[in-house]
Amino acid sequence: MTTGTHPAPLRVLVFGAALRAGSTNARLASLVARLIAESGADVDLARMRDFPMPLYDGDAEAVMGPPQGALALRGRLEWCDAFVISSPEYNASVPGVLKNAIDWVSRIQPQPFKTKHALLVSASPSMVGGNRGLWALRVPLEHLGTRVYPDMFSLAHAYEGFTEDGRLAHPGSQERLAETVSAFVHLVEADVRYVCLQRRWYEFLGDRTEAPVTQRAEG
Ligand SMILES: Cc1cc2nc3c(=O)[nH]c(=O)nc-3n(C[C@H](O)[C@H](O)[C@H](O)COP(=O)(O)O)c2cc1C
Repeated sequence: MTTGTHPAPLRVLVFGAALRAGSTNARLASLVARLIAESGADVDLARMRDFPMPLYDGDAEAVMGPPQGALALRGRLEWCDAFVISSPEYNASVPGVLKNAIDWVSRIQPQPFKTKHALLVSASPSMVGGNRGLWALRVPLEHLGTRVYPDMFSLAHAYEGFTEDGRLAHPGSQERLAETVSAFVHLVEADVRYVCLQRRWYEFLGDRTEAPVTQRAEG
């Protein structure tokens, strides 16, 4: 929110969506977190193993409610203005662990995705860098009301893709990642500071429970 001439820093959660210790997506998430921190934003770097949770089960939910991992992830999402997910591609789609986490968190009302911006990035040893998985990941996030940034970044040949200090080995890729992240942060900043995008999201058709729509030209 804007407060006089000293607006509070943007808050961005950067989330590596793979479980394994040597995850290239965790490395890409760290690099994105560094770039965002350099822009002056507050960054919360997280990874999937911070949020252990069982497979979604409606019976378990009815008895025990959402698991601690889902509550913790929801809390981290609530804190931020925007989030970045660095996700692998599994069989040309979203990894099950990530979809499972989204499903659990979406069950906690009010679900936090609908008020956030998101940037999607991926790393893969393949030549396409996991880009098809990001297209699939847009679907549940956009369904939940997240404003998913149109541009995405996919790092191909990721096992050889990083320098020792955590930057991208290919200078052109490093430049493109930095440009994409910077443009995303500027959009989030414009929305958070000037409320220029339409805010309303309908839980279901006919829902009138939220604040009035803020039109693009208002504010
Ligand atoms: C079940 C499974 C399916 C995969 N499918 C794809 C795929 O469709 N496209 C791709 O580029 N890589 C695929 N991979 C390889 C992953 O990109 C690779 O394991 C990558 O290192 C995972 O990301 P991480 O390094 O962050 O763990 C697959 C890996 C697994 C385990």
